Amino acid sequence: MSIETINGHLYAGGADCTELAKEYGTPLYVMDEDVIRQACREFRTSMEECYGRGMVCYATKAFCCKEMCRIMAEEGMGIDAVSGGEIYTALSAGFPAERIVFTSNNKKDEEIAYAIDNGVGRITCDNIEELYRISDIACEKGKKVRVVLRLKPGVEAHTFEAVMTGKIDSKFGFAIETGEAMKAAEEVAKLPGIDLVGVHCHIGSQIHEIAPFEKAAEVMFDFIAALRDKGIKISDLSLGGGFGIKYTDADKPIPYGDYMKRVSAKARECCDRLGLDMPFMMIEPGRSVAAPAGVTLYTVGSRKTIPGIRTYIGVDGGMCDNPRYALYKSEYTALLANKADEPKDEIVTIAGRTCESGDLIGEGMALQHAEAGDILAVLATGAYNYSMASHYNRVPNAAVVMVKDGRSRTVVRRETFEDVARNDV
Ligand code: LLP
Repeated sequence: MSIETINGHLYAGGADCTELAKEYGTPLYVMDEDVIRQACREFRTSMEECYGRGMVCYATKAFCCKEMCRIMAEEGMGIDAVSGGEIYTALSAGFPAERIVFTSNNKKDEEIAYAIDNGVGRITCDNIEELYRISDIACEKGKKVRVVLRLKPGVEAHTFEAVMTGKIDSKFGFAIETGEAMKAAEEVAKLPGIDLVGVHCHIGSQIHEIAPFEKAAEVMFDFIAALRDKGIKISDLSLGGGFGIKYTDADKPIPYGDYMKRVSAKARECCDRLGLDMPFMMIEPGRSVAAPAGVTLYTVGSRKTIPGIRTYIGVDGGMCDNPRYALYKSEYTALLANKADEPKDEIVTIAGRTCESGDLIGEGMALQHAEAGDILAVLATGAYNYSMASHYNRVPNAAVVMVKDGRSRTVVRRETFEDVARNDV
């Protein structure tokens, strides 16, 4: 987020956050378009310069709406979609189907059919039953589907448990070390309607190290060589997403280009050692594209000091628009947008509005002295906030505005009470 303070007010993407809160209401997700585009360019440039042939697929699960998909199309990105809903959003924004990869762990038949009907470029297959279903559906339609196998490389990356997906005890993908992955590859090579084009892994999220990516690449290349030895030739390798971002000063993110530089060197080394051609490379950054671009604005409604215990600052949002503290105790940096140059001389708990004690944005947070009517800004909320929003307590979902050069536009309208009850009979 390109944030700055002017006359005591927080600005994002050149727009005064206090004014945005007045104009659009709160809670409000604000996304800085330039920050999103800049991240895409860094990833794409490093892919081109360090590796060569490849595609950077934005993982839309981080933040998905039509405008985001339009931006991704303009930036020459691919999309890693996790559901029919995300594919639908991308397609209805005019995103080219062949640049979509459909990756999830339990696809519904309707979703597989929808992806095939619409010419989605690749489907990442998670399990053997899914493989048969993709084959059956493709055959029914007389189509050939480009399939990528999701593998568990068994690599541990340091991150919180709930988002660690590459190790062997994971619900995602085929395990390499048990032989499950090789069996699936041999099976798929025999199946009609399927063209096995690649292998995929994703080792976790919010990772601040390069070594686990190098290790995963090594394991994947060894597997590609083992496939080749069995006469199975594949052309694509996806190493997933997971690149860490800065939520608080404790996070030390690595420049995105550095991942690609080191992983490309590792890829070259592996290909030389194993006598392989360099595959078409895909990566799937989600958080790193969307999170730094976002700030969420809330209006402070109450202040409760419990002597000797803590001060609660009550805001008009919470776990409905950002469930990450409730789920993972994720830490954020917050400030008052209308008192941005005042010292943060209080330590507070920011409490959400739902009927749930655990509905907090954070505890032990440094903040300026907050009073009712102040505008609270929580930084780096562009990923896994809007996309994980819920209607708990029938709270309507917040609006999303995109800011650029000091101007703002709505990209997702605020929900109304009617929206909340829209499908009730
Ligand atoms: N590719 C695959 C197959 C994934 O499963 C994920 C994320 C990504 C790419 C993107 O990873 P990223 O670059 O965003 O780390 N809700 C959690 C994050 C879950 C991530 C799940 N998979 C959170 O709020 O932290």
